[in-house]
Amino acid sequence: MYGLASFAALLGGLSLCSAAPTEQNITSDTYFYGDSPPVYPSPDGAGTGSWAAAYVKAKSFVAQLTDEEKINFTAGYTASNGCSGNIPAVSRLGFPGLCVSDAGNGLRGTDFVNGWPSGIHVGASWNKTLAHQRALYMGQEFHRKGVNLLLGPVVGPLGRVVEGGRNWEGFANDPYLSGALVYETVQGVQEAGVGVSVKHYIGNEQETNRNPETENGVTVASVSSNIDDKTIHELYLWPFQDAVLAGSVSVMCSYNRVNNSYSCQNSKTLNGLLKTELGFQGYVVTDWDAQHAGIAGANAGLDMVMPSTTTWGSNLTTAIANGSMEASRLDDMVTRIVASWYQLNQDTDFPSPGIGMPVDVYSEHEIVIGTSADEKDALLQSAIEGHVLVKNQGSVLPLQSPRLVSVFGYDAKAPESLDLAPVSLSVAPPTQNNTLWVGGGSGANNPAYVIAPLDAIQQQAYEDNTAVLWDVTSFDPDVDPASHACLVFINSYASEGSDRTGLVDSDSDTLVTNVASKCNNTIVVIHNAGIRLVYNWIDHENVTAVIFAHLPGQDTGKALVDLLYGRANPSGRLPYTVAKQASDYGAVLHPVQPVAPYGLFPQDNFTEGVYIDYRAFDKEDITPQFEFGFGLSYTTFDYSSLNIQRTSVEATQYPPAAVIQEGGNPRLWDVLVNVTAQVENAGSVDGAEVAQLYVGIPNGPIRQLRGFDKVNILAGETVTVTFALTRRDLSTWSVEAQEWELQQGEYKVYVGRSSRDLPLTGSLTL
Ligand SMILES: *[C@@H]1O[C@H](CO)[C@@H](O)[C@H](O)[C@H]1NC(C)=O
Ligand SMILES: *[C@@H]1O[C@H](CO)[C@@H](O)[C@H](O)[C@H]1NC(C)=O
Ligand SMILES: *[C@@H]1O[C@H](CO)[C@@H](O)[C@H](O)[C@H]1NC(C)=O
Ligand SMILES: *[C@@H]1O[C@H](CO)[C@@H](O)[C@H](O)[C@H]1NC(C)=O
Ligand SMILES: *[C@@H]1O[C@H](CO)[C@@H](O)[C@H](O)[C@H]1NC(C)=O
Ligand SMILES: *[C@@H]1O[C@H](CO)[C@@H](O)[C@H](O)[C@H]1NC(C)=O
Ligand SMILES: *[C@@H]1O[C@H](CO)[C@@H](O)[C@H](O)[C@H]1NC(C)=O
Ligand SMILES: *[C@@H]1O[C@H](CO)[C@@H](O)[C@H](O)[C@H]1NC(C)=O
Ligand SMILES: *[C@@H]1O[C@H](CO)[C@@H](O)[C@H](O)[C@H]1NC(C)=O
Ligand SMILES: *[C@@H]1O[C@H](CO)[C@@H](O)[C@H](O)[C@H]1NC(C)=O
Ligand SMILES: *[C@@H]1O[C@H](CO)[C@@H](O)[C@H](O)[C@H]1NC(C)=O
Repeated sequence: MYGLASFAALLGGLSLCSAAPTEQNITSDTYFYGDSPPVYPSPDGAGTGSWAAAYVKAKSFVAQLTDEEKINFTAGYTASNGCSGNIPAVSRLGFPGLCVSDAGNGLRGTDFVNGWPSGIHVGASWNKTLAHQRALYMGQEFHRKGVNLLLGPVVGPLGRVVEGGRNWEGFANDPYLSGALVYETVQGVQEAGVGVSVKHYIGNEQETNRNPETENGVTVASVSSNIDDKTIHELYLWPFQDAVLAGSVSVMCSYNRVNNSYSCQNSKTLNGLLKTELGFQGYVVTDWDAQHAGIAGANAGLDMVMPSTTTWGSNLTTAIANGSMEASRLDDMVTRIVASWYQLNQDTDFPSPGIGMPVDVYSEHEIVIGTSADEKDALLQSAIEGHVLVKNQGSVLPLQSPRLVSVFGYDAKAPESLDLAPVSLSVAPPTQNNTLWVGGGSGANNPAYVIAPLDAIQQQAYEDNTAVLWDVTSFDPDVDPASHACLVFINSYASEGSDRTGLVDSDSDTLVTNVASKCNNTIVVIHNAGIRLVYNWIDHENVTAVIFAHLPGQDTGKALVDLLYGRANPSGRLPYTVAKQASDYGAVLHPVQPVAPYGLFPQDNFTEGVYIDYRAFDKEDITPQFEFGFGLSYTTFDYSSLNIQRTSVEATQYPPAAVIQEGGNPRLWDVLVNVTAQVENAGSVDGAEVAQLYVGIPNGPIRQLRGFDKVNILAGETVTVTFALTRRDLSTWSVEAQEWELQQGEYKVYVGRSSRDLPLTGSLTL
């Protein structure tokens, strides 16, 4: 009844002619990768698990609403505040409306809020406690400002397209790491009584052609991410599953198409995967202006349109009257939204929506302080832990009271002005030619201040009674030969809305080699919003140390100086693979372009399956420059005593079709195997190690991350690290059975320091 033809009929701007296709003229149903199979009707939220009480309240609330009032819940309207989106009030029932705002690393477009580290930085910390704490504090800031829903965190993009412009907003190029950190983030934010909208669902792996574009009357549709069933489960859906398991009240559908059907009207991804298989109880909201259908979207499982709609409104009641939509679907849309409000206790004690967030922050407005002094430690600690030290020749770091430090590079300095990022996204933050603490676009949060590296280094010199020289303008600066160290700051900028044009830039690389030619202790710090390659100078004899500093947020310089001077010990690990050369990434290096014969309907076949990042490097036996999971410390760690133990949970029997709860089949979370190992801090300073566990599942990639345990270890001490392997961790997705299945044969188990430095190996047969 709701086949693809009916979707197509609702794709207003698209030309779906039936004439023979020419080079520039091909219709979406001429060349199909695979249908997105129809999945109807849309399942009603059932109030399972922890949602029971919220659903009871929501149902009784919705029963009192008129149709016009119900419709008002399904789309945003323009309110006079600085929220990214708003839902109107129903005053007669005491519902004050909703304010929803960006983003996953801090509140954007207002004052008195903190600029937290971005997703990639949290990914590099590999620290679940830290992810949780950051999220809780962030949530509290949103709460004080009356924001009901935080538009984040990001687990899509996952980082498949290496030049992807938004990869830095997500945690890691690995579903397990990304999933573990999104789980903590969802719980942390929601503990503060603020909802999350986990985004962008799904297959949003490039910015190029993410939206339809019309030129001279010809419309090019959004890129279609064509993803097979096994790959979507084992890679792209995985972290969304963790987010749903954690209780996420909302999921944001993305701009792109999946198997040629727009994500916000794709019944397979929304009704099928999300609401049926994962048992999602919250609501689906569009990315901004990502609605491309009328009633078809509602029937496919979309619940809320932002920032407003041109096709729903009273058409929903017309559609119910003429039989193209069930009345129960409208009730379900509203019930899911209102239940989420009750689930977070936002019906009691919640500030009025968007309080202290004016449309124009430079106008007279009420002052509402979002920040709190008790966040200070978490801000700094989260900034510290996302730095990854990858080279430290002759242990030049930490610096030992250097008499003279010379500082070079545009990225060392604070920007000339700190404007609050406007709610309109036309302007990227002024960070590209200054120190980069965040990327651009809707994730460009508003820091309360920015401590640039040069500022913090000067403060250190003041305290140590030492000297600093700098030239942060020249690309070929003079170097005082008395310099104990030359710190060179470069960055790699990225912003929502476009993909990166490369993984190196020659200006920055020339700066590094120019300094290195004059200074035998050249330490390079890169603030990178994505993967940054280093082949132009990594083997230079004078480049003694290199730090991937990612996007640390407002405490950036302070965190860095704590690491450089040894008050903190580097404990970040790469959440992606750094190749020796760009071509090593293969076909997923660049975004796809709309080329003939797919000019009007750009196609991106995910033919590599799960083989992205380290899975691909392992398969192709390509030696990376720095492997996934790699990072140095000022101490060293020794591994011993691998122990692999089956638990008493029955593993051989496939789990019976249980009641689906949030996150899907609850049997997936059964712990089948426990692994432990001993890790000794074999050096002379305290430090933190990220013990990593990889599993080689029969018939799968050589190894996949399936556990990590970050531990503080005092110098000379030994601790036990533990990993619990669940049924999902040890299964592969069966397309035939439409379920996760354990494999026959020998599982390989590896424990160690990175994806390629694995001193402990064992095996396991289920
Ligand atoms: C597609 O091709 C047909 C026949 O060649 C032509 O009539 C139509 O205008 C073309 N459409 C677009 C969007 O170029
Ligand atoms: C994508 O896959 C389909 C089905 O295999 C194929 O027909 C099409 O040519 C592929 N598209 C591209 C751009 O490779
Ligand atoms: C996309 O098409 C592939 C190939 O036919 C299929 O395996 C998969 O289930 C489809 N996914 C969606 C979301 O439509
Ligand atoms: C719906 O919301 C609008 C604001 O967008 C408001 O003016 C209108 O009164 C609301 N309708 C009902 C029936 O509450
Ligand atoms: C109903 O849908 C039509 C066609 O998409 C659109 O032009 C109209 O504005 C819609 N009405 C409302 C109230 O949204
Ligand atoms: C029913 O109403 C909807 C909304 O106005 C409209 O899109 C649809 O075409 C109508 N269907 C029929 C069969 O009249
Ligand atoms: C940064 O500097 C480059 C070259 O100096 C210039 O082309 C670019 O526009 C600047 N970017 C910004 C955001 O100011
Ligand atoms: C390394 O630095 C020294 C100055 O300390 C310089 O003389 C030498 O040429 C540099 N080496 C290279 C390869 O540039
Ligand atoms: C750099 O050169 C100076 C002077 O020759 C020497 O004392 C120092 O140890 C060198 N530093 C490094 C890191 O090689
Ligand atoms: C496995 O580890 C979990 C927690 O990580 C623990 O609750 C359970 O008792 C352990 N089981 C065995 C058999 O060691
Ligand atoms: C993880 O983060 C927490 C909170 O910031 C911090 O207290 C703890 O020391 C970190 N753990 C490790 C092992 O680095």
